[in-house]
Amino acid sequence: MAESSSLVLVESADGVRTLTVNRPEKLNALNSGVMAALERELDAAKSDDSVGVVVITGAGEKAFIAGADIGELAKLTPVEGREHALRGQAIVARLESLGKPVIAAVNGYALGGGCELALACTIRIASENARFGQPEVKLGILPGYGGSQRLARLVGEGRAMQLCLTAEQIDAQEAWRIGLVNKVVPAGQAASAAREMAKVILANGPVACRYVIDAIHRGLEMPLSEGLLLEATLFGLCAATTDMKEGMTAFLEKRPARFTGR
Ligand code: COA
Repeated sequence: MAESSSLVLVESADGVRTLTVNRPEKLNALNSGVMAALERELDAAKSDDSVGVVVITGAGEKAFIAGADIGELAKLTPVEGREHALRGQAIVARLESLGKPVIAAVNGYALGGGCELALACTIRIASENARFGQPEVKLGILPGYGGSQRLARLVGEGRAMQLCLTAEQIDAQEAWRIGLVNKVVPAGQAASAAREMAKVILANGPVACRYVIDAIHRGLEMPLSEGLLLEATLFGLCAATTDMKEGMTAFLEKRPARFTGR
């Protein structure tokens, strides 16, 4: 299935939903139309049981997403600016609360809001021509879609400070070296590599995968002792699933498991 009329193209195959931000003439910059379409498509992917993993990428060869639309930002009043950031944060946060893995296939520039959107994804795969950065201070603003928070959590305070204060871009290899991306692949292969990884994830127990995401995301916001308790509770809950019985029976019978997500 492929839909091509919108600012976000939607394609589904074998449990993987690919969302492609489709504004290549503006390097896929996030204007209000793109944000509304993303919000809609993320909600649709969340509620569609046939979708196991979501891949997000950008249209064209040059950009994943080159940030929020500067033309729109330039017109904001202070009150509108606050609302704009809160709305952007809420849409980006949907990536974390989807209940399914979301893989960013970063195929070019991931700047500002593009980098922030990638940061909220479960996993990031970059093509070797990808470039990352938080250039907001060059515009006299700071990251507004969660970048100041998630970047520091992912790559550490010092590196986040450097990226946000210098506004410098880093290439895919450097992004990999500092833990900003999980994997670097040849140019043009980010989306296919993301779908390959999705296939690997989809072969595993869906409930268990959902709980892993919860345990890691929510656990990072808790003291260790509470995170460990959350992990133990989710571990115990798995015993109530047919997927756990199937996974262990399949191992003992030396065959691939057939998970149902129950
Ligand atoms: N918002 C709005 N438009 C953007 C944009 C953004 N964040 N990023 C790129 N564009 C537009 C450009 O204005 C240009 O439009 P035009 O052809 O109508 O003039 C088009 O996309 C192509 O970009 P261009 O700057 O010509 O490409 P380039 O190869 O010379 O440079 C970048 C690429 C990514 C380095 C440069 O576009 C850039 O710095 N973009 C802004 C990045 C940014 O600051 N993002 C954070 C925003 S908070």
